[in-house]
Amino acid sequence: MSKDLSLFLGQLLRNPREISAVVPSSRSLAAAMAAPLAPGNGPVAEFGPGTGRITREILARGVPPRDLVLYEMNGAFCNLLRLNFPGVKVLNRPAQQAALDFRGSLAAVVSGLPLLSIPEPVQHDILSAAFTALRPGGCLVQFTYGTKPPVAEEVRQALDIVAWSGRRIWQNLPPARVYIYRRSAEISVVAR
Ligand SMILES: C[S@@+](CC[C@H](N)C(=O)[O-])C[C@H]1O[C@@H](n2cnc3c(N)ncnc32)[C@H](O)[C@@H]1O
Repeated sequence: MSKDLSLFLGQLLRNPREISAVVPSSRSLAAAMAAPLAPGNGPVAEFGPGTGRITREILARGVPPRDLVLYEMNGAFCNLLRLNFPGVKVLNRPAQQAALDFRGSLAAVVSGLPLLSIPEPVQHDILSAAFTALRPGGCLVQFTYGTKPPVAEEVRQALDIVAWSGRRIWQNLPPARVYIYRRSAEISVVAR
């Protein structure tokens, strides 16, 4: 077993609610999460990177390390991320605090957070922070293992955002689907 996987499983036993996944994301899911990103498009934040499966694919898309900031609550994962991704800013802080660091300047937020198992008020705070930090035209990328969209309908309406859903990624345990959220107002401007 790889060192990253044994760390993941050890932390899962300690913090099952925070981690809420049996294994890290597969390469196929991680690549699908990073696919909406374009190199040179500006700063990107990743929420809940864990052992960094999605982080690796974000960098492989051409996002420079200096343009990537990670919000990860688990200190042991932060140590591993700092070791594996030199030049990337790793913050041992909750994703909700992204709005303190960025105001309308991020090109994208990529979230590996277990949104479905996060209580709705906390989910609202996380999504609200993401959209405060995102610049006009910016998007939030989020996956889910569930059959419904990952963001609760009440939260989606309160923040006035809309979802686009991708295909199901079967090469993941369990299979997952990627959603991209944008501000409703920006979708109507594009459509006109
Ligand atoms: C399901 S794991 C995902 C790991 C990784 N993104 C992947 O796909 O393999 C969720 C991660 O989110 C972190 N986490 C949970 N709540 C968080 C929050 N509010 N802010 C930042 N990280 C959080 C956990 O510590 C854990 O590392």
